[in-house]
Amino acid sequence: MHHPASTDRSPEWEHGAWIGYPAAVKNGQLPLRRTKGHERKGPRFAEFFAGIGLVRMGLEARGWNLAYANDLDPEKRAMYEAHFGDADEHFELGDVHRVDGSALPDVELATASFPCTDLSLAGARLGFKGEHSSAFWGFISALRGMGPRRPLLVMLENVVGFLTSHEGSDFQSAMEALNELGYSVDAFILDARWFVPQSRPRLFVVGSMIPDADALESAPESRIRPKLLSRFVASHSGIRWQLRSLPDPPKQSERLLADILENLPDNAPAWWSGVRANYLYNQFSDRHRTTADAMIAKRRWSYATVFRRVRMQANGEKRSMGELRTDGIAGCLRTPKGGSGRQILFKAGYGRFAARLLTPRECARLMGADEFIIGVPANQAYFGFGDAVCVPAISWIAEHYLNPVLASVRSNACLTAVVGDRR
Ligand SMILES: C[S@@+](CC[C@H](N)C(=O)[O-])C[C@H]1O[C@@H](n2cnc3c(N)ncnc32)[C@H](O)[C@@H]1O
Repeated sequence: MHHPASTDRSPEWEHGAWIGYPAAVKNGQLPLRRTKGHERKGPRFAEFFAGIGLVRMGLEARGWNLAYANDLDPEKRAMYEAHFGDADEHFELGDVHRVDGSALPDVELATASFPCTDLSLAGARLGFKGEHSSAFWGFISALRGMGPRRPLLVMLENVVGFLTSHEGSDFQSAMEALNELGYSVDAFILDARWFVPQSRPRLFVVGSMIPDADALESAPESRIRPKLLSRFVASHSGIRWQLRSLPDPPKQSERLLADILENLPDNAPAWWSGVRANYLYNQFSDRHRTTADAMIAKRRWSYATVFRRVRMQANGEKRSMGELRTDGIAGCLRTPKGGSGRQILFKAGYGRFAARLLTPRECARLMGADEFIIGVPANQAYFGFGDAVCVPAISWIAEHYLNPVLASVRSNACLTAVVGDRR
């Protein structure tokens, strides 16, 4: 498969970027205009909830140019800046609710990987009533503020729990808000483990103003639209869906956990003391200890990850337990709030075992951001990567969804005629 680098652009971008007008879309037309003085060959995007910029990494790898980024958190911005080095040019640090849509640049796409805190099954599930995930409405308000300059495409990313928050009413209201702004909506689930050795299923939404003559009539159950999603679509016919037929994503990552590990010498300070490693071993349940013992007995090294979780015991007491994962896939990286979110590496063989935290570099690799320049302290990096998106999953969406949809604007005869008028 050929993946064009950002300098190797496909011909459809050669005449610059095109911006659409929602009102005209409603009338069945799509008048377009060219961004003034725009020399770049690729389409442009604005990244809301930019964090450390991994949506940007995934899109840039498929020919997109960043025009604007927003995030509230100075520590995320610092990590973003340490890697990209150009935050001063486009990064607006502040609350999304305060973003002035009318001042945003012309873009073809706006992305929003808004906070999952209130949508995640692990949390209190306040949904859009929660102070974090309600930031979605700040994004909607920024789009509204752009008026007719709204981008042709939007992309949301969040946990799968978004679909079920408040019995689906949060997701429904989000889709209706996009409909109201002129976007037909599509949804699908990608798991990072199809691209990298990390289990991280995420729900993606693409909102589009570009008509798709080949859109699916319904969302038949598939890997990317499993039963939960397929049923949601079927049971919400009031939402204006536009479901794209997408190829099957890779079956699984070509790399496993062992392939992304740093080769740290036995005396590296990252490895825990024997006492600490033994403490972890003693936190395993009988079942997990049997698995650990089998790893220890092997005449080769093998690797597993461990999360500590508080579990209710038979006697009603709560106890912190270490849970081993041995399928060569890391568990979902999380932000290490409260100290339990850090993922531990368990290495065993030749009658011994050792333990340490996954390093920030390993976390970068688990996100598909292998070359990310980590210019911040480790704890800050754990927060950054724990909150971020899987880079190759974003690139997959760009390659199989966003780029072909945008390219279709130029190949559509009717639309091309309008474009021609405007040149
Ligand atoms: C799930 S993370 C997105 C991470 C990002 N996609 C990345 O790859 O690093 C959500 C981000 O939203 C930011 N955020 C939370 N509330 C916000 C608000 N009210 N305004 C702007 N940003 C906010 C957080 O700082 C966090 O970086």
